[in-house]
Amino acid sequence: MPYSREMMESVRKVVETRPARIAEAKEGKHFPRLGQDDIEAILKKYHPDYRDGTKREVRVGAGKGTIVPNELADLLEARPMIRPEDVELGTVDVDTDVLVIGGGGAGAAAALTAAAEGVNVTVATKLRLGDANTMMAEGGIQAADKASDSPVLHFLDILGGGHFTNDRELVRTLVSDAPSIIGWLEDLGVLFDKEEEDGTMQTLHGGGTSRKRMHSAGDMTGAEIMRTLRDEVKNHPDEIRVLEFSPAVELILGDAGGVAGAVLYNMETEQYIVVRAKTTIIATGGFGRLHIQGFPTTNHYGATADGIVLAYRAGAALKFLEATQFHPTGAVFPEQNVGLLITEKVRGAGAQVVNVEGEQFVYPLETRDVESAAIIRECEERGKGVVTPTGRKGCWLDSPMVEVLRGAGTMQNDFPAKYRQFMRHDIDISKLPMLIYPTLHYQNGGVAINAEAEAERENLYLAGEVTGGIHGTNRLMGNSLLDILVYGRRAGLNAARKSKETQPGRLTLEHLSEYAAELEKAGIGSEAVSPMLLPDYAGKLG
Ligand code: FUM
Repeated sequence: MPYSREMMESVRKVVETRPARIAEAKEGKHFPRLGQDDIEAILKKYHPDYRDGTKREVRVGAGKGTIVPNELADLLEARPMIRPEDVELGTVDVDTDVLVIGGGGAGAAAALTAAAEGVNVTVATKLRLGDANTMMAEGGIQAADKASDSPVLHFLDILGGGHFTNDRELVRTLVSDAPSIIGWLEDLGVLFDKEEEDGTMQTLHGGGTSRKRMHSAGDMTGAEIMRTLRDEVKNHPDEIRVLEFSPAVELILGDAGGVAGAVLYNMETEQYIVVRAKTTIIATGGFGRLHIQGFPTTNHYGATADGIVLAYRAGAALKFLEATQFHPTGAVFPEQNVGLLITEKVRGAGAQVVNVEGEQFVYPLETRDVESAAIIRECEERGKGVVTPTGRKGCWLDSPMVEVLRGAGTMQNDFPAKYRQFMRHDIDISKLPMLIYPTLHYQNGGVAINAEAEAERENLYLAGEVTGGIHGTNRLMGNSLLDILVYGRRAGLNAARKSKETQPGRLTLEHLSEYAAELEKAGIGSEAVSPMLLPDYAGKLG
């Protein structure tokens, strides 16, 4: 048996309480949702965002005074990786109309849309095309495209999830474009889950949704979307040039002040590449690999906040970075799976979260911040967590109840990735619950954009997790796969059109000297260098 004796004692209690919980679920009864006052109270007391000493004001730059997690502040206050004299801007290695920095879902969508406008596009990506959080997204993509739903309801759910802090114009645009995004993906060949009887889209609830609008491809929705987008980019080699293992390390400005390309770093040859571009799109994703507050993460290896660092040094404004998303159901056992995402879709399919006694203590589809806070309270304050042999604490996600509610074989059929990831460790999740605890999942904030995906800096566009404003202080499930595509496409379209009437001008990296001078004036003598590019696990271990 993979679980320890103590863990199995707790599993027995989960099994004992299961029939009564299932009977109630079948009658439509559920654990009471928290009211607004209780939500505010539980977040303040238990959500990691509210822990003292975990955030601070950035002391330099255009957004001086903005509050961000300490780990990000360290990067924003670090020395640039290059000095202007290190790079010969007179020699342009790549000349392009549109430069897309980032090869995940947002970058691919931007590149395809820009190329369709007849301009030439260069995609620069740190790892390989498709090595991104998009590939790892599991549960689904939201869109109000059923008769029982509407973009207005989607809009209201997003505002509720974001505690009414969201930029409403960005949300309005997101929900309005959503149905057409599903159509676009289907046309490109994405295979969504369909109802057997009539071939309509299968849709489920996520936390904080008032309608079932989560469209999925098993528990590998992101991989299915990324597979399709990547193939489509590769189908256009004449219009889209892809530079892999070539992250951007700094933006280049034109002498008129707008963004005019970027310096890339070839990770294989260790040489810099000067890219001159009429317009530039940043789609570099989030910051999970900064391991905010030491949390494990669901994020891919390259999620190190590079885009934020570049845009900030070039004068772009930041928003909502004081709020970090912790996904309630990260794996805590076995050790090899720690931090791994267990999709919210499992709860959407009926699984409940229970404590060491097999008792429910939270409505399973509270918004992520509230669900996470409740799990932390159960483990840290109430002492009702399950302790693993290595001393980690967690609660159970009772996946076997899905088999009863939705039919035998559902866990294996609808959650094939998770089923295999646990079977490798002899844990059959159709028979045994999974031990979970919140894991660092998403950067709620980022660089400010408007509904056309434009930054406050000329010729600069951004899309996806690197941006801030759409989700306010808390994103709902399935709105990230949506946002990368809505704003990826908008960024691609607008950057392409702008590129037709823009000239980069004389290239300069003077803003780096100014930034360095500001660091010195503020008395910040950090030895750290940013962007980070890859997490320094070896350094930390050594
Ligand atoms: O739980 C999940 O499947 C995650 C989805 C998301 O972050 O949108």
